[in-house]
Parts: sequence; structure tokens; C-alpha cells
Amino acid sequence: MCGIIGYVGKNKCISILINGIKSLEYRGYDSVGIAYYLNNKINIVKDTGRIKDLEKELDINTNSYIGIGHTRWATHGGVTKYNAHPHRIGKITLVHNGIIENYLELKKELINNNYKFISDTDTEVACAYIDFLYNKYNDIYTCLEKIKNIFIGSYALCILCDDDTDTLYITKKGSPMIVGISNDGNIIASDISAIVNYTKEYIILEDHDIGIINKNKYIIYNNDNTVNREILTFDKNIDTISKDGYDHYMLKEIYEQDNLITNTIRHYIDNKLPDISKYKHIYIVGCGSAYHAGLVGKYYIENFLNIPVTVEIASEFRYKKLFINDNDLVIAISQSGETADTIEAIKIAKKYKAKVLGIVNTYKSTIARISDEVIYINAGIEVSVATTKAYSLQALYLILLSLNNKINLDNISNDIKKIYDIDYSKYINKIYDKEHVFFIGRGIDYYLSLEGSLKLKEISYIHAESYAAGELKHGTISLIEESTPVIAIITDKNLASKTISNIKEVLARGAYVILICNENINVDSDIYNELITIPDNNCLTPILAIISMQLLSYYVAKKRGCDIDKPKNLAKSVTVE
Ligand code: AGP
Repeated sequence: MCGIIGYVGKNKCISILINGIKSLEYRGYDSVGIAYYLNNKINIVKDTGRIKDLEKELDINTNSYIGIGHTRWATHGGVTKYNAHPHRIGKITLVHNGIIENYLELKKELINNNYKFISDTDTEVACAYIDFLYNKYNDIYTCLEKIKNIFIGSYALCILCDDDTDTLYITKKGSPMIVGISNDGNIIASDISAIVNYTKEYIILEDHDIGIINKNKYIIYNNDNTVNREILTFDKNIDTISKDGYDHYMLKEIYEQDNLITNTIRHYIDNKLPDISKYKHIYIVGCGSAYHAGLVGKYYIENFLNIPVTVEIASEFRYKKLFINDNDLVIAISQSGETADTIEAIKIAKKYKAKVLGIVNTYKSTIARISDEVIYINAGIEVSVATTKAYSLQALYLILLSLNNKINLDNISNDIKKIYDIDYSKYINKIYDKEHVFFIGRGIDYYLSLEGSLKLKEISYIHAESYAAGELKHGTISLIEESTPVIAIITDKNLASKTISNIKEVLARGAYVILICNENINVDSDIYNELITIPDNNCLTPILAIISMQLLSYYVAKKRGCDIDKPKNLAKSVTVE
């Protein structure tokens, strides 16, 4: 997925496009580009790397008032200048977020019509196809109506046409797009973060909308009729996106968890969450860390509400034989609210007439809007690609839902501060230069180990694998060598003795064991090389354990000199399948 931006108005466009792209970099940052009209001539500046690099080649005083921009997360074709957007063919220049699944078939048709390509991307094919149609119909609107039935997959397109250099043409299917509206001009973007410093008023486009956007007016069509999309006002003060003195957004966001968790619990002492106890079966769908949070929710909902919970990776959910019916609840978890795999899972849940509850961070995001009911976790903007505060709040809301609001604040803030105060430096040196690290745990601690290993691998690039502690001996233990770091997690007293047996099995093979253990579980010093003690805060202990693993991963990645907030190959919101 990628971030797209477009502007047409009374202001010079270059700085608006640059700033918009900076806000969208969380969606991908392999390469970047801008196209703009100057004296009715197209100019395109694009390359691999980030907007801060491209800025040097752009002059914000350029007398151009219309342009488009793009920040890329590679889907088709490597990270090269030729594969960067915008793409241009004939009179058409465009940027794209999404995947045109039938692009090879379209490419063949175009090559048979003498089109030549210089990139490996589906987007260049989309650009060429629109040019092909434009040469036939001489009208962009008609072309965009036609592609609805030609392009398979997802797209959000912002298009410039040389025959109409005062207009942005837009259309979308499956990928998000909004239009920011103001008296000075109109701005197109993948999401609100790119427009909010320019205007607070916006509309959200629906699938197959076609927009014709000029500096002082816009028209939206759908199925050949003009439509009036509701004008929304972004009333939240977007967090000043700054590190507030921290070295990285990730560290800042880890430290925000104290207040966020404390305030959330305090709020729900007197306020009710939806009652989920009436459902016969609960499904939880999500991706990555959201999926891991769902597993924590499974543990608590099953143990406190006695309801069977099935947690599914969203991208797998859609291929399964499903036994969902209208007595069931599907909980969709997503920080961005734009994850394509999770959106598709929701569409399937609705086909089975299940009730869909979204647990989302991003206000008015697609998942928030298509769910029957939504709980906003109000974590604030999470800039770091590796989620921390959003994961913890996702898990917390699931714990609160399972407790039917019977929770108290007992010491949670003090306990979180104890986790912050741990000196992680002594553990780092045993991990940072290793190729493989293993995380093990049983039950809820296995679920925590999944998130702990994901954190380590996605920001430090160390291969970290999570294993159910009892399962390691059935094969993978063959990989344990002298000084292989094994991070063992024991927060659940009932499973301590079994996990300790598994720890002894890896110690016997030379592992270096860092034990993350509940303070009220007595362990002999001969079952670990290092001990990280976690305060026992009843059902919140797992969240304390995770915060310790977030910090462990952070300091390992920092020692390795990794780009912690924007790890290679990643993006914050994966809006492609
Ligand atoms: C988080 O550290 C990961 N980068 C990733 O797994 C993320 O949790 C996943 O892509 C789901 O994103 P969402 O919560 O925005 O749907």
C-alpha cells in the first residue's frame, strides 16, 4: 500500500504535496514522487528514498497550483526510480494506491496496441490503459467509468490529463480516499493525516465514486449520477506529530501507555462497554499485532464469559469453511482501520449475518464505518510502524469486554512505571548480535510471546521465533545452540511448572535464558541467566509483560542502529491484500 496526495487551488502546490506525503509516509516509504503542471507543462520529480531526500530537488516557490504526489510501499516491482510513482503515459499522469490484480492481462493487450513499458508496476499498466481509453473516448470521466469493469483488484487513483490542466480526476475501489475541502482549494489524500493541516472539512469517497476536482468546486459521481457525500469536520486535534524529546516515536508511544491504560481503565469504571455475553460464539479477526491482541482477548473472554472464541488471521479467515450465523459476534481489530485483509474479513462476516464490532484506533476509518458498532481505543496517532500503545489498548479493551467492566485501577500506573524503570541494557548485550532468538510461553504467555517476537524481528531484523513452550521439544529445539537467546515468559502461575521444565530443556542445550516472570512466582536462579520481574497485577499482568518486551526490542534495535520508526520493507497500514 502507498500514500497518495493531490492538490488544486489558489496556493502553490509543492509544499502542500511535500507535507502531505510526509504525513502519509507511514503507509510506505520505499520511493516517492511528485508531478505538477507549470505553464500547462507536466513536471515529474521522483526517486527511491524518502520525501526528505526529494525535497532538495523541489522548489516550494514554483508557480504551480495543481499537482499529485505519492509515497510507495512496493507491491509489484522492486524499489527503483522507474517503479516510483507518478507514472506517465501519453497525456495521462497518475498516482495509485492498491493492486490491479489483472494487470498482466491488461499489459499484454496494451503491448498488442503498441504500448511500451519501462516499469514492472501494475500502476504503469493502469496509466497506459486509461491513456488507451482516453485516445478512444477523449473524456477522462468515461475512461473512469469503463475501468470499473476492467480493472480487477483495488485502486485509489489521482489523475492529471494534459488536456485539462486545472482538474484532478479521482476514483477508488477498495482503497481509501478522501477529499479535503476549503475556499483556497481542494486536496485529495489516502487519509485525514495528510489534509488536516490544510483543512478540517472533508468527504469520504465510496467505491466507484468518480470525482472531478477543481480549485473552487468538485463534483462526485457514482453510477453516472452526481452524489453528495456528507461533509465531515475533523474535530480531533491531531496530535502534534513530534517526538517530544524521545529518540524515536516508538519510545514515546511506549511511554504514553501509562496514561493511556490508566485513563482507559478509569473511564470504564463508571462507563459501560457493549455487553458481548449474549453471543453464542465470538470470532476475532485481525492481522499481525492486532491478531496477537485478539489471542489475549480469547484467553479472557473464554475464561471470564465462558463463550468459545475463535481467533483468525484475517487473510486466512476468508478461505475457511465458516460456521458463523446471526447469533455470533465478529470482533475486527485494527489500529489503522484500513487493513485490506481485515476489511475483507468483515465483508465475509456480514454475509453470514454476524454482528461486527470494530476495535479501532483511527477515527472514521473504513473499518470503523463498515462495522455495526465500533469501539475507538483513543490511543492517539501512532506514528511508529511497530505498534505498541495501540496493541496494548486493543488487548486492554478485550480484557475490559470480558470483565463486563468489573476492573479496578489497583496500582496499574505504578506497576507500569516499574517496567519502565527496569535497566534493559544488561539483557541487550546477549541478544543484539545474535542471528536467532526464541520466545516461549504456554497459554496466555504463548500469545504474549507471539507479540514479543514480532516486535523484535520487525524493528531489529533479528530472526525471532515464538514457540508454544511445550512444542519446542518436538523439533525446533534442534536449533538451540550454545548461547542461543531464549526469552521465556511466565505470567500465569498455573503454567509455571510446565514452562520451567521447558526452560530446563533449552538450558541443557546451552541456551541463554532471559526469564520474564510474574513477581509472585518463585523460581530458582538456576533456571535463568537473567530475570525480568513483572509486577503481579491480576488480569493486567500480561500487558505489563508486553511493555517489557517492547522496551527490550526497542533497545536491541537501537543498539543495532536500526531505523526503529520506519523499519525496512514495512508500512504502518497495509491496505493491499
Ligand atoms: C504492528 O507492529 C505490525 N506492524 C503489524 O503487524 C500491524 O499490527 C498489522 O499490519 C495490522 O495493522 P492494523 O492494526 O492497522 O490493522
